[in-house]
Amino acid sequence: MENLEEKILQADSLEVLEKVRVELFGKKGVIAAQFAKMKEVPGPEKKAFAEGLNKSKAALQKSFDTRFEVLKAEEIERVLKSEEIDVSLYGSLAQKGALHPVMETMDKIIDYFVALNFAVESGPMVEDDFHNFEALNLPKYHPARDMQDTFYFNDGGLLRTHTSPVQIRTMLETKPPIRMIAPGTVFRRDFDVTHTPMFHQVEGLVVDAKGKVSFANLKAILTDFLQYMFGEVEVRFRPSFFPFTEPSAEVDISCIFCEGEGCRICSHTGWLEVLGCGIVDPNVFKSVGYEDVSGYAFGLGVERFAMLMHKIPDLRSLFEGDIRLLEQFR
Ligand code: PHE
Repeated sequence: MENLEEKILQADSLEVLEKVRVELFGKKGVIAAQFAKMKEVPGPEKKAFAEGLNKSKAALQKSFDTRFEVLKAEEIERVLKSEEIDVSLYGSLAQKGALHPVMETMDKIIDYFVALNFAVESGPMVEDDFHNFEALNLPKYHPARDMQDTFYFNDGGLLRTHTSPVQIRTMLETKPPIRMIAPGTVFRRDFDVTHTPMFHQVEGLVVDAKGKVSFANLKAILTDFLQYMFGEVEVRFRPSFFPFTEPSAEVDISCIFCEGEGCRICSHTGWLEVLGCGIVDPNVFKSVGYEDVSGYAFGLGVERFAMLMHKIPDLRSLFEGDIRLLEQFR
């Protein structure tokens, strides 16, 4: 069987080796033929004959396996060499996603207050009359309810019209001092260039012992906050009215489009209104059972901030899901 061994060693490719395998180990192969000769071997010699054959077969198998490994390794080497990858070639670029400008603005706002140790609170979007109105010093039939066109459910429930009910929920659940913001989705029956029926607000509330929280504190933090958001702008506080704050103010920044000169966007006033705020009305504290405390609150519309920061002319475009708009914010 020596020349059989030779055949294995001389096979110079896997294909040739496969042919040799069939020739030797196959059903009609050389080894099978040898075993077939057993019949002709006289009885006493059968055992020795079979032992010899098995030994040769095992030896050949071993040579075969070794040769196979060698040829296989060569083959892999060859394939690796021929299939070189050119890492300098251009690939197809993956589409990168981006945060929606409203969420990005929301995050920026949250970052500011979190850095000042404000807790981030939340509440349900489906509210009841008590939390959305009553406890905020807006009794039934109070004319100021008309300021907020409300979506009602048949059972008297409603979609919250502002994030202020989170003030109430937080005060009912915890004791002062409180230092919180409440970012969230709110709903109003309104739809035009600057209003969508769903939008986002960030509420702020600070409560501490009587005399500890002042309008000056409120003015300082909001001025700093607005300059953090909009850069070097002027900030002005204008007397206003909210049922849940007294005194109340609306806050304007100098117009970032015309730098206060007066343009179409600021209606030629040089100012842009960006948030509402005030000293928490005593009636609000009464409705949550707080005594001997003082506090301030503020609320702002995130979409309005996003529009101004990115100079987006139509608020509705933020919610149309047009990829061409969103791609600009990547
Ligand atoms: N909740 C008011 C609104 O939606 C904003 C506000 C909040 C004003 C807190 C004063 C204090 O218009």
